[in-house]
Amino acid sequence: MEFYDFESRLERPVKVKIPDFQTGERLNHIVFADQFTTSTIDRLGRTANRIRLLAKSTEGCRFLSELLRHKRAMLYFTQPSTRTFLSFMAACQILGLSCTEVRDPSTSSETKGESPYDSVRMFSSYFDVVIMRSKVPQFAECCAYMMNDLRQASRRSVPIINGGSGADEHPTQALLDMYTIHRAFSFHHERNSSQWTWFDELREQYPGLRKGVDGKVFGFCGDIRRGRTIRSLAHLLSQYEDVSMYFVSPQHPKLAMSSEFRKLLLDRGVNVREVASFDERIDDVPMIELLDCLYMTRFQREHNRPEDEADFQAIDFSQFRLTPRLVARMKSYAAILHPFPRDAAFGEIPTTIDADPRAHYFRQARNGMWARAALLAYLFDVDATITDYYEQYTRQTSDYNVGAL
Ligand code: NCD
Repeated sequence: MEFYDFESRLERPVKVKIPDFQTGERLNHIVFADQFTTSTIDRLGRTANRIRLLAKSTEGCRFLSELLRHKRAMLYFTQPSTRTFLSFMAACQILGLSCTEVRDPSTSSETKGESPYDSVRMFSSYFDVVIMRSKVPQFAECCAYMMNDLRQASRRSVPIINGGSGADEHPTQALLDMYTIHRAFSFHHERNSSQWTWFDELREQYPGLRKGVDGKVFGFCGDIRRGRTIRSLAHLLSQYEDVSMYFVSPQHPKLAMSSEFRKLLLDRGVNVREVASFDERIDDVPMIELLDCLYMTRFQREHNRPEDEADFQAIDFSQFRLTPRLVARMKSYAAILHPFPRDAAFGEIPTTIDADPRAHYFRQARNGMWARAALLAYLFDVDATITDYYEQYTRQTSDYNVGAL
């Protein structure tokens, strides 16, 4: 089994590939962000809310941890990861799945010449799902095809979840980003729901403000070209109505958005603008003041090539750092997101911004655990059981029904 065995399937457009990863409407492998439709995003968001609320009580935790006690997950992460790895592990623990990891292929038989495809097939013999991150683009996709071929041959086959594949995709990050965005734009306040009139107050200040994602303005800043999280999230956001996306990055071909990506968004009706700084004016207003949500990213220095060093040195990167002054000019309800890790040396988001109510990035990372637990519950078909229990449970207990999307 090698990469070229899948070549003809890899060359197809994404929308033609998607049916290969699902059975009817039901997702089976998670390879591309575009597999998540708005209704799947809503469904998973509702499950995530139920899980997070049930997890507040011992009884709820006990219920959740029995659901998948009979299942096992393999975390095969050969590229560095903190949040994706740990939040998947925590998600497994919440649902009772036991998990094992391979992070360093030098501890596996790959050092004896075993191919990564044989490794993944072996994992599928012992485990019920393989969650993987690789620096090799399309490796997760190829593993999903391998699993499909095995199923076709009536052999054992398990779901593959792409936890980040090279520079191309990071679908579960996009899922948790969407979950965070939905929660931010529900303008809900969990702790004091009965008296909270924050949305009404905001509407006085911003009369056109609506709940939800439609009509919102998103800013993306940093390494637009090489960061996989921006691309995956933009795919999902482009499914909503009347969305604007403003991209702030150096105008260098290795860092600015690719023409394919721009075309894809324009074809989907997104209002796309590319600007060189947060102060550049759009319809005569500085871009930073127009944003409902700002998605910051780090510059992926590990991908720098020696031949680009001179060009990169000539760029004024200070334009791509957020400052408390810029944040003070943002809308009061705007959400600042970052997939993390942030680059402490570069400082695209200085820690002085962390206490600002607009800073959602730590909450976003925690949301990754709930969103991934919801995804696992869905893949193993226990999300309806969670809904039934939740409805019964909320009837018995007090006002827990506050987390709905
Ligand atoms: C990102 C990734 O690995 O693509 N991290 C993450 O999964 N949260 C972002 C990055 O590395 O810059």
